[in-house]
Amino acid sequence: MNKSAQPKAAHVTTRRLFDMKQSGEKISVLTAYDYTMARILDRAGVDVILVGDSASNVFAGHSTTLPITIEEMIYHAKAVVKGVQAESSRAMVVTDMPFMSYQLSGEEALRNAGKIMKEHECDAVKLEGGRVIAETVKRITDVGIPVMGHLGLMPQSIYKYGSYKVRAQEEIEAEQLMEDAVILEKAGAFAIVLEKIPSALAASVTRSLSIPTIGIGAGVECDGQVLVINDILGLNREFHPRFVRQYADLNTVIEHAVKQYVEDVRSGNFPSPDESY
Ligand code: KIV
Repeated sequence: MNKSAQPKAAHVTTRRLFDMKQSGEKISVLTAYDYTMARILDRAGVDVILVGDSASNVFAGHSTTLPITIEEMIYHAKAVVKGVQAESSRAMVVTDMPFMSYQLSGEEALRNAGKIMKEHECDAVKLEGGRVIAETVKRITDVGIPVMGHLGLMPQSIYKYGSYKVRAQEEIEAEQLMEDAVILEKAGAFAIVLEKIPSALAASVTRSLSIPTIGIGAGVECDGQVLVINDILGLNREFHPRFVRQYADLNTVIEHAVKQYVEDVRSGNFPSPDESY
């Protein structure tokens, strides 16, 4: 069978994620911010690609996720969607709504969610927060835009917390988180990211919901897992939190390759006659 005759894998939908939870099939999620990486992720079979506002840190070099703008998120998301379309078009693409693009009013949130969905063909948006944004989540989902929630450590609230340490270790915060998860599900969210919370709490949230939970630093009992692509590839030398499993050391690989290139240019070893016209 030639390549063009191969059947395309079915695109992952919110319904498919729901079914995966019911059947106990784990959901794999990774972030991506550009076309090339999105192609690799889709080819490798990841279920969901998150165009995370972590682009603010790992792509743009800011110290928090707060500075990234909606235009910048749309720029990244367009590239990611093109990458997925260039491969099997299987992965679902979810785009983070950046800080202050959904907090001011339900109307503005809806306008911005609509802008993200219209300007590139992504599948869903992600918002951070619980009861405070429940009305907004309802408003966005009511017009047909799927919303992924995000509870626990919410990086857009870093200045309120003052640190990136594990959340909901105290009973009162754990109870609030559990309530928030139920509220988000009722408001229409199709999945919820649980970031940096105790595994036992994540497990009990997961059991209480019919929609999938996607953990990051939240233990193995979540319905799926998400990590930042730069972290699993070892591109970020300074960042080694306990919840990251590093699958490659691309930092060293790239540095080595670049050093060799520089050496070859300097010594006149590149380009060779075969690499010239
Ligand atoms: O922005 C991001 O990458 C995220 C994930 C870490 C969940 O929100």
